[in-house]
Amino acid sequence: MTSPRFFALIPAAGAGARMGAECPKQYMPLAGKLMLMHVLDTFAGSSQIAHTYVVVSAEDGYIDDALSGARHLADRVTVIYKGGPTRHKSVLNGLLAMREQVRDEDWVLVHDAARPGLTEGLIERLIAGVQSDEVGGLLALPIVDTLKRSDAAGRVVATVTRDGLWAAQTPQMFRYALLQRALQQATEVTDEASAVEALGLKPKLVEGSPRNFKVTLPHDVALAELHLKGTA
Ligand code: C5P
Repeated sequence: MTSPRFFALIPAAGAGARMGAECPKQYMPLAGKLMLMHVLDTFAGSSQIAHTYVVVSAEDGYIDDALSGARHLADRVTVIYKGGPTRHKSVLNGLLAMREQVRDEDWVLVHDAARPGLTEGLIERLIAGVQSDEVGGLLALPIVDTLKRSDAAGRVVATVTRDGLWAAQTPQMFRYALLQRALQQATEVTDEASAVEALGLKPKLVEGSPRNFKVTLPHDVALAELHLKGTA
């Protein structure tokens, strides 16, 4: 039997409304390159990744141009024009579209297009930490701040202990068959691990990095550029 392979699946079908930019945020230029291209180059540069799939919306008017200027990605990346109304649906559509190329026991690393700070080293760390795990796992960061729960008026109603709390990042890495089953059975989830948890399983946490944060609001752009230029 051949060893399981590692595939990347990038949901990139969001509108990025909170960014308030003219184009979807994954197509914003950052440190001289579109946000999505940073992510695709990182996966393409990793010798452990067999192939990368990127899910965009059926009406996406940017991806073809972006890839036409990136000949080195031609046989490393496949575009799936089947984004859904939510991240959950976009990932599931991507999994179904890659079905023919992937075996049940192969690993799929799902990574947000909006996390351009991922590095090949972080991919290696995740794979090393999870590849012999029964369930799968994800990059995450231990919470260091004291956490407050607020009421509707913005006043503190409780202090939440940070013991054992982590902020989930991506990639999140699960075997193809398990991930497809979990996402098909889950009602709306915001990450893959939650769908797997709903099956009663416990994904493994692997320490990520602050530079792998999700670019969401306009003020995130400057910090992302500092990381990408290596000056943060
Ligand atoms: O909006 P948010 O930053 O949480 O999105 C996380 C990732 O999911 C982004 O890469 C975004 O493009 C993707 N997404 C998607 N389909 C949607 C919504 C978000 O692929 N309908």
